[in-house]
Amino acid sequence: VEVNLRGVDLSRRRIINALPYILAGAFIYPVGKFLFFSDQPDRHVTLPLREIKEGITPMKEQQLFLSKRGEQITVFDAHCTHMGCLIIYNPQKHIFNCPCHQSRFDHNGNVLRGPAKRSLDRIDFKIKNKTLYI
Ligand code: FES
Repeated sequence: VEVNLRGVDLSRRRIINALPYILAGAFIYPVGKFLFFSDQPDRHVTLPLREIKEGITPMKEQQLFLSKRGEQITVFDAHCTHMGCLIIYNPQKHIFNCPCHQSRFDHNGNVLRGPAKRSLDRIDFKIKNKTLYI
């Protein structure tokens, strides 16, 4: 009986000793996954300017929105600046909605309603030979 109890005590002690490592792993895993294995899509795009439509065009694969207003082109990151959810464009109201906590952004990416405090992120691009490169 004594041997059995010692065995039980030993395994309990092992679990208790391992607890800080288990908790640290529970914290480190998601942070490490975010930092090193982000689900960031390939955002390289080559698009002739004549194919870019007036208004907002969602680019789902790249998680971007392409905006063309006359000669002005803007590329928005499709992630909400609050906590990173993917936003949705409402073409009837000309606004971006975040389904997570209901932030809203106007067609220029400015915050209309929080909790987001920062405008949508803009993505750098180049135009060369009548072609847009992201
Ligand atoms: S993630 Fe968009 S409002 Fe919170």
